[in-house]
Amino acid sequence: MDKQVYESMDNLTRSFTDWFKERVAEKEQLTIALSGGSTPKKLFDYWASLPEGEIDWTKVTFFWGDERCVPPTDEESNYRMTRERLFDHVPVPKENIFRIQGESDVEAEAVRYGALLDRELDSISGTPVFDIMMLGMGDDGHTASIFPHEMALWDSEKNCVAATHPVSGQKRVSVTGKIINASRHVVFLVTGENKAEKVKGIFEHPGEARKKYPAARVQPGSGNLVWFMDQQAAGNLSNK
Ligand code: 6PG
Repeated sequence: MDKQVYESMDNLTRSFTDWFKERVAEKEQLTIALSGGSTPKKLFDYWASLPEGEIDWTKVTFFWGDERCVPPTDEESNYRMTRERLFDHVPVPKENIFRIQGESDVEAEAVRYGALLDRELDSISGTPVFDIMMLGMGDDGHTASIFPHEMALWDSEKNCVAATHPVSGQKRVSVTGKIINASRHVVFLVTGENKAEKVKGIFEHPGEARKKYPAARVQPGSGNLVWFMDQQAAGNLSNK
């Protein structure tokens, strides 16, 4: 479990982009599952600001690790955030964007998207494999939309499940631990001091953390796991 700590979000986004460009160069077509929430916004803004051609966006196929069950026009929609910050500014072919349909019935969409992953991705031992799984972490230790109060969803045999936000009750579609840990590369983008306590727990008491926090259960079989953090999120670590 590698960590890279940056003094600013700008430095983090630049370094993460260098890492991402290397992954794109390695593949003819790269598949990425995006995270949502607020952390990726600055990354997508940075990608949108890059000179034309710096990244060959036609080589990237976009999926999501989770989505809120709202219409794609809703301000809560991870797809809407990504469209506004990225797709409206860079030439991603529409056929390379596979959004989770938040407007649909949550259980039906979990089935539909799970089948889509089986169809669209390479698989190893019957499990669809992303090249990159991009994750955030909530201050409660959730990741994707697997929350601590629904830990059993992490171990589901399904590709995608219907989840529920513990506070708002909002329904979510989320990939499961099976999909996350099958990914070739898993990267966390975690910033802000409100994440520091969970980051410390995950890095310094992993056994305990794995009982409580879904984010602690991210252990890709590939061994390729990097936490990109700012100094605030890493602030409580004994060895920053
Ligand atoms: C979502 C995300 C979720 C997010 C964390 C961190 O749909 O909200 O996928 O898992 O990554 O909640 O969110 P912030 O980046 O807003 O802190």
